Amino acid sequence: MTALLTTALPATAEAPPVSFQRYYEEAGPDYAAWSPGFNMHFGFFRHGLNPLARESMLEEMNLQVLDRLRLDPQSRASRIPTRVPARVLDMGCGLGATLRSFARRLPSAELHGITLVPWQLEQGRLLNQACPAADRIALTLGDYEHTPHPSGSFDAVYALESSCYACGPAKSAFLREAHRLLRPGGRIVIADGFLASRKLHGPQKNIYRTLCECWVIDTFAAVAPFRRELERLGFHDIVLERIQSRVTPSVLHIPWVTLKFLLTSVAFGPRKMTRARWNNVLAPILLPFVSYPLGPVAYFIVSATRT
Ligand SMILES: C[S@@+](CC[C@H](N)C(=O)[O-])C[C@H]1O[C@@H](n2cnc3c(N)ncnc32)[C@H](O)[C@@H]1O
Repeated sequence: MTALLTTALPATAEAPPVSFQRYYEEAGPDYAAWSPGFNMHFGFFRHGLNPLARESMLEEMNLQVLDRLRLDPQSRASRIPTRVPARVLDMGCGLGATLRSFARRLPSAELHGITLVPWQLEQGRLLNQACPAADRIALTLGDYEHTPHPSGSFDAVYALESSCYACGPAKSAFLREAHRLLRPGGRIVIADGFLASRKLHGPQKNIYRTLCECWVIDTFAAVAPFRRELERLGFHDIVLERIQSRVTPSVLHIPWVTLKFLLTSVAFGPRKMTRARWNNVLAPILLPFVSYPLGPVAYFIVSATRT
């Protein structure tokens, strides 16, 4: 595997790493190969779903996040009677697929999303136009560690495969901002890959480094420091659910999606294959080599309540 890495990425050692902005500008449109609705995350399998139907598992992940936010769709508001309608923030919203899913289920909620990528903002706004609830979804360009929103202005915040981009293993600045934005009693949900232990053995260290470089991640959050940071900030009701087995059925789609992408977009596609685009092909291939059961990376949904 180490040999594969050194031959697959000859430029990595010499050329500067691909920047975050460049990665998402060049590789962003390729996410359509994974999800026509631009759900830029893995899926959640539950009994009754067809494991071959990827998009329905991706949508189920949205629903699992929504469920843990404990917003009440029946009353069309948050469970705090004084706050009508509920205000929800997607911290790292991509093209807003999860917000559009929530809009269908929360008929009066005010839905906000923030992303660092201008292309995502433009495309997300275009996709929102086709959504009946477009007027309730507001997308903003900015950094989720320093948002323009007032303190205590949200009933719920969530990050679906976006907290991994925040700095450090405890993701302190990201969690601090989430805590600032939530009203007392507000909920946070994070769904992402985590380092369940710090043990990366032998060639796995190289694979992990290359994976992070491909996806322009500093490091995945480490479970123990992340939990301690939540506690230190004053969150309670902290629940960490390891859901690797739920996510695996969608991970198993990677070989087929990659092969189809190579045979269509790479071989006959109009856009040049840049290093950023190749990185996005390589990263999902590397992921299983450092993920449970071979490695320490595991998928978790973490939820908590602001005190
Ligand atoms: C893998 S995508 C996931 C997008 C979306 N949550 C979804 O599931 O479709 C990661 C997202 O995190 C966003 N992101 C990463 N760092 C960010 C930051 N500091 N501030 C705002 N957004 C950020 C990226 O712009 C991108 O939209």
